[in-house]
Amino acid sequence: MDKSAVAVEALATHVGKAVVLQGWLQNKRASKNLYFIELRDGSGVVQCVVAKREVDDASWSAAAQATQESALVLRGQVVAHERQIGGVELQASGVELISLAEEYPITPKAHGVDFLMDRRHLWLRSRRQWAALRIRNRVIMSIHEFYQERGFVQMDAPILTGSAVEGTSTLFEIDYFGSPAYLTQSGQLHGEVMAMAFGKIYTFGPTFRAEKSKTRRHLTEFWMIEPEMAFYDLDMNMDLAEDFIVRLVQDVLRDCQAELTMLKRDTAPLARVQAPFPRISYSEAVELLTSPKTQELLQQHAENLHTERSALEAEQAQIGKRYGQVKQWKRRQMDARRIVINQRIGEIEEAQRNLPQWAESARDFVWGKDFGGSDETLLTWHFDRPIIIHRYPAAVKAFYMKRDPEDDRLALGMDVLAPEGYGEIIGGGERATDLFFLQRQVDEHGLPREAFEWYFDLRRYGSVPHAGFGLGLERTVGWIGHLEHIRETIPFPRMLGRLSP
Ligand code: 4AD
Ligand code: MG
Repeated sequence: MDKSAVAVEALATHVGKAVVLQGWLQNKRASKNLYFIELRDGSGVVQCVVAKREVDDASWSAAAQATQESALVLRGQVVAHERQIGGVELQASGVELISLAEEYPITPKAHGVDFLMDRRHLWLRSRRQWAALRIRNRVIMSIHEFYQERGFVQMDAPILTGSAVEGTSTLFEIDYFGSPAYLTQSGQLHGEVMAMAFGKIYTFGPTFRAEKSKTRRHLTEFWMIEPEMAFYDLDMNMDLAEDFIVRLVQDVLRDCQAELTMLKRDTAPLARVQAPFPRISYSEAVELLTSPKTQELLQQHAENLHTERSALEAEQAQIGKRYGQVKQWKRRQMDARRIVINQRIGEIEEAQRNLPQWAESARDFVWGKDFGGSDETLLTWHFDRPIIIHRYPAAVKAFYMKRDPEDDRLALGMDVLAPEGYGEIIGGGERATDLFFLQRQVDEHGLPREAFEWYFDLRRYGSVPHAGFGLGLERTVGWIGHLEHIRETIPFPRMLGRLSP
């Protein structure tokens, strides 16, 4: 350990100075009497140039020996270098090998997702994972800042509970000293309790859903942020959700430039995330979904997919023709590109297979159903920023929702759908305040009244209008980073069929 070691992310302030770096070898290229070592230290990656003339024999052989993911200490001078990430590189004066890594399973070429998921403990060291999880970190910090600045108190809801919040179909049951208990699906009911004690609170904790669905939006363990506010109605709730999302996106745009670039995230759609968000009722959303405009958007999408696929197939053919005539290093590049192309073509094929179903589901959608994943995606295509859908049929929403005084079929619920096809990132609404109504709702949802006596007490002792919502952290990070699948937004994803590492 060298206490004077400098973090890679701080190197820009050390140009012209001698520094010590410690980290791992991410990549190495050799040329005559030179090694180019990409060193990562967790805070960033920097290219280090080791020239035979500039280092002693021990250093030169350390550089020669070092394999991918070997641990190194590098000494040298920081020089400005426009074309390098971070704008600097290191001209090494010494190299010390801390530990030589065995042959590393994850190479710079592309790998299949299952292969990578089985090696998640190593995959986390890769650049894209680094970028995605640093964005997660920034979002977490913004969440706390946003609520703390507004006088909200952070309060933890229990993880082990005796009752369902979001219906019984997705509960994980465990044995609690001989009695059944459940991993919480949401901190909301306890959040309501805490809002009556502290005014405005937010919970931030893990939540669990025994979702058997294998989609890009579902985890069985995910993190939810749930603000709950006394004396708030649905409109105030929507205002808060809107300010909240704008803030998260702005903070990431400002502070995570390097990460967004690494993810090749087009930031133009993020820059458009400004208030006000379109607010449409469920009924208006149904009209939009079943309109010819939606079919046109689908048609356009199908054409785009077709064009993209043709271009990829042409590139594939081109590679096939040239493969036999090029040098070894170029072939390796082509191999890597082939894997990327095949992966993308696979995705396109899947999308092309699904589109007819999407079109049908949208066209035949009947008022009263809940939106499916594809319906939500299609709705987001009509807008250039997040949208808020409110006033859903009560029948598709949870038991605790307040009814719309203007139309008893409707619940004062709201969902926020992220743009670019990402869909629901927030669910929430105004809560029912009437004791007898709630008791009937619990019965109708087939839930045991005894388990909710404490919750009913909130309506017995000083019941007030209140509202809140839950934001899914992973879905939010997935959208902001424009990731293909939610599994890359959490260090150790838990999904159907995935409990390790
Ligand atoms: O819409 P949901 O089910 O709402 C609730 O749980 C309310 N009790 C929240 C409240 O009002 N306090 O879930 C809220 C959010 C969703 O919008 C989504 O972002 C995320 O939690 N979410 C999931 N994220 C990943 N994997 C899953 N299986 C998820 N289920 C919900
Ligand atoms: Mg929901």
